Amino acid sequence: EYKKPLGVDIDLETGVIPGAQKLVRRLSSLKGYFLDEKAYNELLREDPVVYEVYAIEQEENDGDLNFATTVLYPGKVGKEFFFTKGHSHAKADRAEIYYGIRGKGGMLLQTPEGKAEWIPMGPGTVVYVPPYWAHRTVNTGNEPFIFLAVYPADAGHDYGSIAEKGFSKIVIEENGEVKVVNNPRWKK
Ligand code: 6PG
Ligand code: NI
Repeated sequence: EYKKPLGVDIDLETGVIPGAQKLVRRLSSLKGYFLDEKAYNELLREDPVVYEVYAIEQEENDGDLNFATTVLYPGKVGKEFFFTKGHSHAKADRAEIYYGIRGKGGMLLQTPEGKAEWIPMGPGTVVYVPPYWAHRTVNTGNEPFIFLAVYPADAGHDYGSIAEKGFSKIVIEENGEVKVVNNPRWKK
C-alpha cells in the first residue's frame, strides 16, 4: 500500500525526464498572449515549438508532490522573448520551487492585485514561488532555457486570469539589452 520510491536522471542537455508525460506547446497555442500581433501572425506560418514540459505527476492528493522539467526555446515575437503561458494554481495557496538547469532566463511573478516581480534565473538558481503568486518563465538567451519545477500534487493550474489580462510587466529586447518594462496593455 506504500507507493514505490522513484529515482530518475534528468538529461541536463535536453531536459528530458525518462518515463515522463510530454506536453508540447507551439506558438499557435499562445494566441493573444504576445503584444505584437503582426509579428505573431508572421511567425505562426512556421508555428515553432515554444516549450515542452516533461512531467511526473501523482493523483491529486494533499501532501503528495509532482515534478516537471520545462524546455523553453529561445525566440521572440516582435521585441518580446518567448515565454510560458503563466498561471496561478487552481488551489491558489499552493507554493512551488523552481531550479534552473540550463540556459538563461527568469521568472515573472504576480500577486492577484497585479504587483509583478522579475527574478533572473540561470543554472543553479532556486526560485521560491510563494502561495497566491502567478508565475511565468521567460527565455532571455539564445539556447534552450531548462528548469525543474516541484509543486504540490493537488495544486492544479488556473490559466484564466493570465490568458485574459497577462502580466503587468513584459520582458523585451531593446538595443540588444534585456528589459523588464510595464505592459502597455495592462489594466487591472
Ligand atoms: C506547474 C509549474 C510548471 C509549468 C510549466 C509550463 O505548476 O506545473 O509551474 O511545470 O506548468 O513551466 O508553464 P505553463 O503551465 O504556465 O504553461
Ligand atoms: Ni506552477
